[in-house]
Amino acid sequence: MLGAIYQRGTRRSARRHQLGLDLHCSFICLTLFIFQTFPCSKAITVYYQNGENPFLPSPTSKGIAYTGLAAYDPTTLIPPSPPGPSAVPTSFALQVANSVPVAASMPQSGSFFGFSIEMSVVNQVLGKNASVIQVPFLNLMANLKQRIGEVRIRVGGNTQDTATLVSTIADGQMLEKDTENSSNPTQTPPLIYTSELLYMLSNISSLVGIRWFLGIPFNDSSNWRLEIAEQGQAILGDYLIGLQGGNEPDLYAAHQHRPANYSYYDYFGEFASLVAAMDANQNIIRQDLLIGPSIQNIWTPEQVWDTGFVDAFSPNLAYLSVERYPTDNCAAKYPGFNFTLNDPQATFPTFLTHQSSTNLVSSYLNSTAYALSKGKQLVMFETNTASCGGFPGISDVFGAALWGVDYALQMAAVNFGGALFHVGGQNVSYNPFTPPPTNQSTYHQWTVGPIYYSALVVAEALGPTNASQVLDLRANNENQFTPAYGIWENGYLARVVLINFVSDGTGASDLNVDLSIPNVAMPTQVQVKYLEAHSVSQKGDIAWANQTFGAFFDSDGRPKGTEAIQTITCSDYSCPIRIPAPGAALVFLSSSMSSSSDSQPDPVSVTAPMTFSTTVVTKLHNTATVDPGVVATSNGHSGQQFSQEPLLSSSWGSAKSAGYKNIVPEAAFTSVVFWVSFLWSARFAMEIITL
Ligand SMILES: *[C@@H]1O[C@H](CO)[C@@H](O)[C@H](O)[C@H]1NC(C)=O
Ligand SMILES: *[C@@H]1O[C@H](CO)[C@@H](O)[C@H](O)[C@H]1NC(C)=O
Ligand SMILES: *[C@@H]1O[C@H](CO)[C@@H](O)[C@H](O)[C@H]1NC(C)=O
Repeated sequence: MLGAIYQRGTRRSARRHQLGLDLHCSFICLTLFIFQTFPCSKAITVYYQNGENPFLPSPTSKGIAYTGLAAYDPTTLIPPSPPGPSAVPTSFALQVANSVPVAASMPQSGSFFGFSIEMSVVNQVLGKNASVIQVPFLNLMANLKQRIGEVRIRVGGNTQDTATLVSTIADGQMLEKDTENSSNPTQTPPLIYTSELLYMLSNISSLVGIRWFLGIPFNDSSNWRLEIAEQGQAILGDYLIGLQGGNEPDLYAAHQHRPANYSYYDYFGEFASLVAAMDANQNIIRQDLLIGPSIQNIWTPEQVWDTGFVDAFSPNLAYLSVERYPTDNCAAKYPGFNFTLNDPQATFPTFLTHQSSTNLVSSYLNSTAYALSKGKQLVMFETNTASCGGFPGISDVFGAALWGVDYALQMAAVNFGGALFHVGGQNVSYNPFTPPPTNQSTYHQWTVGPIYYSALVVAEALGPTNASQVLDLRANNENQFTPAYGIWENGYLARVVLINFVSDGTGASDLNVDLSIPNVAMPTQVQVKYLEAHSVSQKGDIAWANQTFGAFFDSDGRPKGTEAIQTITCSDYSCPIRIPAPGAALVFLSSSMSSSSDSQPDPVSVTAPMTFSTTVVTKLHNTATVDPGVVATSNGHSGQQFSQEPLLSSSWGSAKSAGYKNIVPEAAFTSVVFWVSFLWSARFAMEIITL
């Protein structure tokens, strides 16, 4: 989003990089300062994804200044010193009521934790087209789907505002930056894309049940381009759950997309024009999918609500939305542009307390309540650790996984209706998952970041019932290092999440919590899953219940290792739960806590996900189509089972396993790379590419 700011002063561009839509300056004063003082001589046009640069430096070994892609930056920071037992009591009692406290949240959807994918990178993250879909992405989504039923993903961002759906692109691509027709060389070239993109989303949904948010281009409100609404609805049907109207309109003036005095009243007027245009369009069946106002923190939400936005457009609004990053790394990312430096080492500890999350939600407490009073939900439509790509050493380490769990559960507790964590390109540090650079895709796999682990934990904490009510338990006398949440399901306490932000390899800062439930007999035992790493600075190899997605370039999207669930024996009065420093524990209370135990889902045993065993390659050699049954057999399913696997069903089957298993022996796939494709009949087939 800062791209436009840079463009203002651009006359000649020596280098072109894409800032992506993930670049958010959180502070208006900073934004305006930069805007006003931008030196023309230093300006650069910033619009290509680094990942598209064919000349990619490799990560260097430690000790040498790293100049490669941010997504693989080896930088680590020093973990904050343990505050010690006087600041953080390590043993405490935690009493949690069995019936739902009045202060608990509304029933939350299991899909609360979703993702926001920048529109310009979907051809890297999701697939080349509807026939070549990224299999690791499918696996990552299948892991979540298995836990919560469906995943919600927004495709959009700043590029959506100037994107145009075209019938074909000359070279057969699905998505391209329209450099040829970019009349003004200082403008970010608009995206052009074909309906193939929508078919790709549809094909992904038919495999892993994703529900999509899209965005209507908002750059030209006198000449609306509504094709994405028309075709999006026609192609995606119920898999399309929202259409964003405007992305960060409070930054339009700063980005020179609107006059300097552009206000929330002007936004209201343009939204009214959009509603009228959609209403007049015979090809748009559903008029109730709009999402707004999606502001950053330049305008306050209250300023928008005070225009009468919600009442005026209520029948058209599916959700209300805001976007927010807690801080930014603009100074490091764009040296020489007078951004205020946020020193990474000094910033790191600010992510490692509960206050990070409570501060972030504090300016939305009015708004979540207001939304509910109007029969709407407020969604955090785009967020992550820090704008301008996040911080190497903060956004990509274990501390961010703990932060993500605390922040998402905090948002759930204060009645946000969902939170979408942003995915940018290769040049950001905060991605939940990153495909390898295109020119390395034949030998590197995906990189799974800490925020993906947060998604897994929150998915299991909320579960699939869409009935989970969340409360910040203010544990340990509201100690900032040891937050805890209770989760009630169908009226009874179902699970408890305990977090320990302290990083202390000696074990001296491990927590010993005496968990008790007043006025009910304690279960004889509870089961616990741990989110663990050696320190908050650890990069890669995070463990969730002993399973991991490895380090950089290590993952095909399936968890590795055998799932480990701890069984803790309780006394008549309490259950002793240990939480390592650092770490998080998800405690599953026995179904005996509920009077109607049948309504409680089995808290631990879960069905193994359907896996898509392979890697997509973009360089194709000797492609050969094979019988899907053969592939299916090698995948550990029988061919028959595989072809019977109901691709359109919401369940991958009913067989219980001991955990989330890695079905496929890794070695079986070292010499072949599969390419998932779909036949016209939408039947599943695979092509094998021999390397
Ligand atoms: C999909 O992308 C692949 C790889 O770029 C290409 O070979 C194939 O022709 C494309 N298919 C369609 C239908 O465009
Ligand atoms: C909006 O974007 C489209 C596509 O990039 C472009 O053709 C059009 O000129 C833009 N309109 C305005 C008012 O900027
Ligand atoms: C998958 O994509 C193809 C286009 O390549 C399209 O014809 C087909 O309808 C899509 N299938 C689904 C289920 O959306």
